[in-house]
Amino acid sequence: MKISVIGLGYVGLPLSLQFARSGVEVLGLDIDPAKVDQINRGQSYIKHIESAEIQAAVASRRFSAAADFARIREVEAVIICVPTPLNKNREPDISFIISTGEAIAPHLAKGTLVVLESTTYPGTTEEDLRRVLEAGSGWRAGADFHLAFSPEREDPGNPNSKVTEIPKVVGGLTPVCLEKASALYAQAIKTIVPVSSCRAAEAAKLLENIFRSVNIALVNELKIVYSAMGIDIWEVVNAAKTKPFGFMPFYPGPGLGGHCIPIDPFYLTWKAREYGKQTRFIELAGEINTAMPEYVVSRITEALNARQKAVNGSRVLLLGLAYKPDVDDLRESPTFVLMDLLKARGAEVAYYDPHIPVIRPTREHSHWTGIKSVSWNRETVSSFDAVVISTAHRAVNYQELAEWADCIVDSRNAMAGVQTKLGQVWKA
Ligand SMILES: NC(=O)c1ccc[n+]([C@@H]2O[C@H](COP(=O)([O-])OP(=O)(O)OC[C@H]3O[C@@H](n4cnc5c(N)ncnc54)[C@H](O)[C@@H]3O)[C@@H](O)[C@H]2O)c1
Repeated sequence: MKISVIGLGYVGLPLSLQFARSGVEVLGLDIDPAKVDQINRGQSYIKHIESAEIQAAVASRRFSAAADFARIREVEAVIICVPTPLNKNREPDISFIISTGEAIAPHLAKGTLVVLESTTYPGTTEEDLRRVLEAGSGWRAGADFHLAFSPEREDPGNPNSKVTEIPKVVGGLTPVCLEKASALYAQAIKTIVPVSSCRAAEAAKLLENIFRSVNIALVNELKIVYSAMGIDIWEVVNAAKTKPFGFMPFYPGPGLGGHCIPIDPFYLTWKAREYGKQTRFIELAGEINTAMPEYVVSRITEALNARQKAVNGSRVLLLGLAYKPDVDDLRESPTFVLMDLLKARGAEVAYYDPHIPVIRPTREHSHWTGIKSVSWNRETVSSFDAVVISTAHRAVNYQELAEWADCIVDSRNAMAGVQTKLGQVWKA
């Protein structure tokens, strides 16, 4: 079987490799010529994916990349993994899905299966994508070509998370669409979870992400309440999680980051308005999580104040720019917000991240592009008035940090278990 994966990013690349390993021939399509070129040369551009994996897939002739969308006439199935961000007004931007649909529609062969994987609001596949595919091809979905939605469940940076082991929810436009899509994924993934419609599959993915956003907001709020009572939230979560049923631990932090949790819930908020419905949990969680960087800055202010220093004029080092540990993905990272807030208060700001030597261009924080990570040594680290742990990468030596930095503000409980001096660490 030959398939095409469109959008070779954090989702599309590992998925392509998994299909290739399972014996399926994959034509990767992307509008970014640099990615196409790197894949064909066997080079990885994602830190946690080894170049050797790409080389093996390319050498086996089961994986190649191209930018020519007309080539989808060669394949039996197309999987779309393009970005779904929010626009300036925090409304869904499905333009990447629409432009992909427009690009492939004229080249669809009869009987081709098209599956959308990008996270989005219920109705995108059956309404929006279907419309452009039918208009561009002159065919009918469910009759001349098949249409389905199957959400991605990628856990970047988790070495125990394997694409083939993660159950795959699949919904089809018709029972035949569902059957075709289930058969496709069954070639590469062990467990397929069929649901009754594309909408149910879209809604399941949103539930998963809303669940995380709401629970993270809950512990973030409790962090502030318990802190005022002199109780440590991390101790509380670690105690509560020993309950063998009915509890799942979530941990507080400096705010939400990444391409999913801060964004996807608002896809539902927007769509719900069409039905005259409110999504109060989503809005409240968003409000609490968005306020977290301000809270961390208030703790930095207190920590500096205790040393007779003001934020204005202080040198502050942010430790961890990626939005989660052990990855190089900086999209929506709350560390950027911390840097902005501190700079606005007159601090001199720098960052250290072993996985991000230089800040790549981002949509929202372009003013930091090109700034380089400081180096990790005693002289550099000890020259800062405060070091703020915003992401706890495993590659950082926290014992060295305790020896080098006088004032540490820890929003991740990374200093637990490290020997520190009284008053040296401020939890935030
Ligand atoms: N990153 C994750 O952990 C994760 C997890 C689950 C779901 N998702 C969802 O998967 C989707 C993709 O996310 P990602 O993290 O892989 O994004 P990404 O930005 O890493 O990759 C998207 C890729 O699509 C390409 N692209 C953009 N427009 C295109 C077009 N019109 N045609 C072809 N290629 C195009 C980009 O060049 C890029 O290579 C999003 O909807 C996201 O919400 C992401």
